[in-house]
Order: sequence, then structure tokens, then C-alpha cells
Amino acid sequence: MNKNVFISGASRGIGKAIAHHFANNNFVVVGTSRNEFEFDQKSDNLIPLKLDVTSRDDVADCFEMLKSKDLLPKILINNAGITSDQIFLRMKNEDWDNVINTNLNGVFNLSKIFVKNMIKQKEGRIINISSISGLMGNPGQVNYSSSKAALNGFTKSLAKELGSRNITVNCIAPGYIETDMTSYIDENQKKKLLETIPLKRLGKSEDVAKLVSFLSSNEASYITGQTISIDGGLLMY
Ligand SMILES: NC(=O)c1ccc[n+]([C@@H]2O[C@H](COP(=O)([O-])OP(=O)(O)OC[C@H]3O[C@@H](n4cnc5c(N)ncnc54)[C@H](OP(=O)(O)O)[C@@H]3O)[C@@H](O)[C@H]2O)c1
Repeated sequence: MNKNVFISGASRGIGKAIAHHFANNNFVVVGTSRNEFEFDQKSDNLIPLKLDVTSRDDVADCFEMLKSKDLLPKILINNAGITSDQIFLRMKNEDWDNVINTNLNGVFNLSKIFVKNMIKQKEGRIINISSISGLMGNPGQVNYSSSKAALNGFTKSLAKELGSRNITVNCIAPGYIETDMTSYIDENQKKKLLETIPLKRLGKSEDVAKLVSFLSSNEASYITGQTISIDGGLLMY
């Protein structure tokens, strides 16, 4: 069985931590970003690739390249995501389109192209990185929370279609994780935020990487169609 993993948005933050975690566990990881990049850790198991998940041409070219190198993934981590926050009245069409194109259409593009081979291999894992913003809403994030809420529905429907093929599809909904995406949070905001987080800290990318790793493992073979929060207890219901 191949140990190939594909991670979108692996140049920074959560995606980078997931990539290192898998590579350290002897998986071969293809990690992407819109820009050329290098992984900090030098390893034959870590393959950086320039790819824009919104470009179906890029995705199709990437598929052919991976197929020719026997690198089609058994595990697909749809992690690439962006924010373009603005209160709804001021939100521009581009703010809406860019976020939906990346966070939702990007997941469609990659899942669509890689799922056929998983079906052929009779095994696969798809993990979509959603957000608690898609579960609880967040002012200034109508675009972002819509894109992430859509991933929860995408996950459930695809899980129902692929369950009989031994492919699981799950979502992870992180709370506040310390990455570039949350670097706008100043000390004052952080203090207020921590009052609402029972575990009294922001999350680390490695926290998310460990959950991704578990959901990708054989130990999680009976879990599908779920959205699992990782947020220090911020959202409980
Ligand atoms: N950090 C949080 O608190 C938090 C909370 C909830 C959910 N999330 C979700 O977790 C995921 C990772 O977030 P993060 O905090 O690690 O973000 P980040 O530090 O901003 O990193 C985002 C990654 O995605 C890549 N990317 C963005 N657009 C892309 C595109 N069109 N095609 C390919 N790659 C693209 C970026 O690289 P380039 O810019 O070079 O393309 C980068 O590698 C996102 O889906 C985010 O919505 C994060």
C-alpha cells in the first residue's frame, strides 16, 4: 500500500506542520503553495510543489506529473485556505469570490481529481480543514464562514458516497491556531480571547497535525463524515 500524502497549502502554518509530521513518520509528502517554497526540513520525503488550487489546469498538470512518478495520494489533506475579512456591507465581490474559489472550489478541484485513484486502490482518506467559523459564524467573515460551512456538507455527502469504497472523508474545525492567518490578533485581543477558551491558550499547528495524523491512520478507520473541532473547548454544543 502506498504511503503518499498530498497537502494543499503546506508552505506555512498548519499545512507545514502536517507535512513535517507525516514525513517524520515515513510518508512521502507532496505539499503545495501558490509560490515557490522550500521545506525547513531537508528530506526526500518532502516534495514542495507550486500549485494554485483554484486553477483546474494546474491541478490537472499536477495529477499527470504525480501519476507518472507513482505519487498519487492515498491521503489527501485539503488545507489551503485564505481569509478576506470585511463587514458584509463593505465586502467586495472579489472578497467573496476569492475566498469561495480557494476554500471551497479548491477542495472540489483536488478531491475530484484524486478520488478516482483512491477508488481504484480501494483505500483512501480525505481530510478537509474547515473552521469553527463555519460552525458558529464570525462577524466580518460571511465569505469565510460560508466557505467553511460548505465543507462540512461536502464532507458528509462525499463520505456517504465513498464509504462503501473504504474511503473516509472527515473535516477538522480548528479554533484559533497560532499561524500567519491569526497574526493580526494583538495582545489585548488575545487576552479577551483567552477568557473564552477553557484551555487558556491558542492552538499550535502541531495540535492540528496530530489530529490529522490520527484521522489518516488505521485506528480511525470507523470514523467518517464527521467535523471534529480542535479549539481548546471554545465551541461546545
Ligand atoms: N490559523 C487558524 O487559526 C485557523 C483556524 C481555523 C481554520 N484554519 C484553516 O486552516 C488552514 C490553514 O490555515 P493556516 O492558519 O495555516 O494559514 P496560513 O498560515 O495563512 O497558510 C495558508 C497556506 O495555504 C496556501 N494557499 C493559500 N491559497 C492557496 C491556493 N490558492 N493554492 C495553493 N495554496 C494556497 C498558502 O501558501 P501561499 O500563500 O504561498 O499560496 C499557505 O501555505 C486554512 O484552510 C484555514 O482556513 C486556520
